[in-house]
Amino acid sequence: MKFFIDTANLAQIEEAEALGVLDGVTTNPSLMAKEGITGRNNILKHYVDICNLVEGDVSAEVIATDFEGIIKEGEELAELHEQIVVKVPMIKDGVKAIKYFSDQGIRTNCTLVFSAGQALLAAKAGATYVSPFIGRLDDISTDGLSLIQDIRTIYDNYGFETEILAASVRHTMHVLDCARIGADVMTGPLSAITGLLNHPLTDIGLAKFLEDHKKGN
Ligand code: E4P
Repeated sequence: MKFFIDTANLAQIEEAEALGVLDGVTTNPSLMAKEGITGRNNILKHYVDICNLVEGDVSAEVIATDFEGIIKEGEELAELHEQIVVKVPMIKDGVKAIKYFSDQGIRTNCTLVFSAGQALLAAKAGATYVSPFIGRLDDISTDGLSLIQDIRTIYDNYGFETEILAASVRHTMHVLDCARIGADVMTGPLSAITGLLNHPLTDIGLAKFLEDHKKGN
């Protein structure tokens, strides 16, 4: 399972990268705004800065919602760096654009996916990644994980190569449940990755080992 971090914060990306388990980064317009990155040139520069910090794929989202606009923006983003994956919303013109990008060899991440039908469309259009938002489904009392399971079944039934990128992951249990189901990738906050480190028996055991070592010396 690949681990992506869902942030535009360079310090957090560096911290996750330093752990040695990071496979990529996802961003979105809200995450860019949260870091105070505004204006087209600053936004484009920030994507390049992220690419220079990590080795894996970096999702950069288009703002346009019409076919021509998505193509123009997506091509500009894809030219920025070879690690860029163009993030396109699950709307009619988005699906058309994913098909166009796929034919051009430009990699895509179909975002804002909330149903298995949408995921099927994204795969048929040739998306590299599909991003079902499990946390936002859980927020409205709908089982986000069962969506991941449904998409896994559908993609396996037909051998679709689109990777399931479990998005809107909020905590470590989401990560583990997605791993059990067989999501290809998860993207979440730094805490969902570093939280996997924690176990009280590890802390107790280590304290005891160190104490016993001191006694023996
Ligand atoms: C996906 O790529 C999105 O950026 C993200 O996972 C959304 O997460 P949120 O629901 O926590 O905003």
